[in-house]
Amino acid sequence: MKFFIDTADIDQIRDLAGSGLVDGVTTNPSLVAKSGRNFLEVIEEICGIVDGPVSAEVAALDHATMLKEGRRLAQIAGNVCVKVPLTWDGLKTTRALADEGTPVNVTLCFSAAQAILAAKAGAAFVSPFVGRLDDIGHEGMDLIADIVEIFAAYPDTIDTEVLVASVRTPVHVIQAAKMGAHVATLPPAVLRQLALHPLTDKGLAAFVKDWEGTGQSIL
Ligand code: G3P
Repeated sequence: MKFFIDTADIDQIRDLAGSGLVDGVTTNPSLVAKSGRNFLEVIEEICGIVDGPVSAEVAALDHATMLKEGRRLAQIAGNVCVKVPLTWDGLKTTRALADEGTPVNVTLCFSAAQAILAAKAGAAFVSPFVGRLDDIGHEGMDLIADIVEIFAAYPDTIDTEVLVASVRTPVHVIQAAKMGAHVATLPPAVLRQLALHPLTDKGLAAFVKDWEGTGQSIL
């Protein structure tokens, strides 16, 4: 399973990318606004830090402008993945960009039917938002299970990857991995949380104390 980080915070990206565990980055207009940075500049900088796909979202709502924006974003770097919303204009734009060889991440997906359309449009990724479904009393992970099952039924014709988005907790990540989702995009805090366990801390403290008692050194 691939891990992307869901942020436009350069310091966080630099720090986490240094772990070697980050396969890509996703941004959205809200995350860019939070960063306070110029959109095109911050995407270029992120693309220089990570080798994997960096999702950069169009701002327009109509197909013609989305397509122009998508082409502009794709020029920034070879690893830009243009992000478009799951609307009819977005799907049309996805098809056009995919036909030009530009990878597209179709975002704001909240149903299996929408995911099927994204796949038919040639999306490289479709992003179902699990946390936002949970927020309104649905079971967000049920959507991931449905999409993974549907895509797996068409191994020869669908190569769209399921990118689990709006991830809020490590439990979402574990469930997504069990379901065979291709990618999860994680807020930096959730990625860091994955490594934590109180028994690891407790065990390590005991090992450190006992090792010090031996008076030895490895180097
Ligand atoms: O980048 C899209 C998605 O991950 C947003 O998450 O927490 O704002 O619902 P959230």
